[in-house]
Amino acid sequence: MSLSRLHIDRFRNITNAQLQLGDGLNLIYGQNGSGKTSILEAIYFLGMGRSFRSHLSQRVIQNNQDDLTLFAQMEQAEQVYKIGLRRFRSGDIQVKINGDKIKRLSTLAETLPIQVITPESFSLLFEGPKARRQFIDWGAFHTNPHFYDAWTKVRRILKHRNQLLKNEVSYQQVQHWDKELIRYAELVTDIRKQYVGSLNERLKGIIEEFLPQVDVKVSFTRGWDSKTDYQTLLETQYPRDLAAGHTTSGPHKADLRLRVGTLPVQDALSRGQLKLLVCALRIAQGKLLKQQIDKNSIYLVDDLPSELDAKHRQLLLQQLSDTGAQIFVTAIEPAAITDSLGTPPVKMFHVEHGRVTVIEKPLRE
Ligand SMILES: Nc1ncnc2c1ncn2[C@@H]1O[C@H](COP(=O)(O)OP(=O)(O)OP(=O)(O)O)[C@@H](O)[C@H]1O
Ligand SMILES: [Mg+2]
Repeated sequence: MSLSRLHIDRFRNITNAQLQLGDGLNLIYGQNGSGKTSILEAIYFLGMGRSFRSHLSQRVIQNNQDDLTLFAQMEQAEQVYKIGLRRFRSGDIQVKINGDKIKRLSTLAETLPIQVITPESFSLLFEGPKARRQFIDWGAFHTNPHFYDAWTKVRRILKHRNQLLKNEVSYQQVQHWDKELIRYAELVTDIRKQYVGSLNERLKGIIEEFLPQVDVKVSFTRGWDSKTDYQTLLETQYPRDLAAGHTTSGPHKADLRLRVGTLPVQDALSRGQLKLLVCALRIAQGKLLKQQIDKNSIYLVDDLPSELDAKHRQLLLQQLSDTGAQIFVTAIEPAAITDSLGTPPVKMFHVEHGRVTVIEKPLRE
């Protein structure tokens, strides 16, 4: 699966750009503030209906404009999909796939599995469990057709349960909801656990290449005590939940634990090594997706050269290429990428003040 065409209109500093994309590695280069990250952000926006940089979607609309439009043509297994998105400053969003309006943004995400690696991706390792849960759920969502529905139900029931807790009702009044919650929580947990297990198998080989002799362990924690079943826990913890005003344990607290020996990875690895670990996790996800549902991801790698020496740039580019996926890489200087490649990128774009030009026949010096 890959994008063959991309049109960007009124998105950040890009007034209008029409790009013919390549199947493998697309290199986007230009000076600071030229619009490189904005191109990746536009692709992400098209796949997710939101930005990876800002939680305020109207910020991506070009200043003094009322809307933005994005269009991409995607080829998959001999089929062509035309995806169009229009986002208004008012908040409205319109998405069409092959001319048909779609109602749920998850349809978009399902169509375009996107992997992002940015200098901010470290947050996956440093910040709270939310980012890591989203990481697990990306895989669970794409590889298991029951996950989205089950997780949506869990969140809905939890919202309702938390409201009851705020109203300080008795346990008998939440019991009915707990039955449903337990059912879907177990389903969500099983899917996540299975996914992390498969991911670990793919991850091993990549970590051995990126971080040889570093004993990285990745494990899943489900969000409540591993020795207690969820039903008993919900019942015995009810007074605690009442005091807190929300459900304190459950699948909404699940996490991915990353350790080197007994230390959390952020205390044991250098910045370059942490970047490689994040890349390894994302590459493993892409490879697993390909293996499990024969679908390629699209990789958006912002500022790939930063923090990495020449050898590790080369290793990373090699591993990314091995996924067989379409890859978009940004860099300030093109040589920081081309010098690490055996063959030139399939496409090369230069960005200057939001204007994108294709570099014909990108040859190595
Ligand atoms: N809503 C907007 N309307 C117009 N311009 C915007 C908007 N939001 C951001 N910009 C501008 O877009 C420009 C491009 O930003 P972008 O982050 O894509 O640059 P970049 O090429 O990735 O730079 P760097 O190498 O520093 O990462 C910036 O100068 C920024 O000020
Ligand atoms: Mg940038």
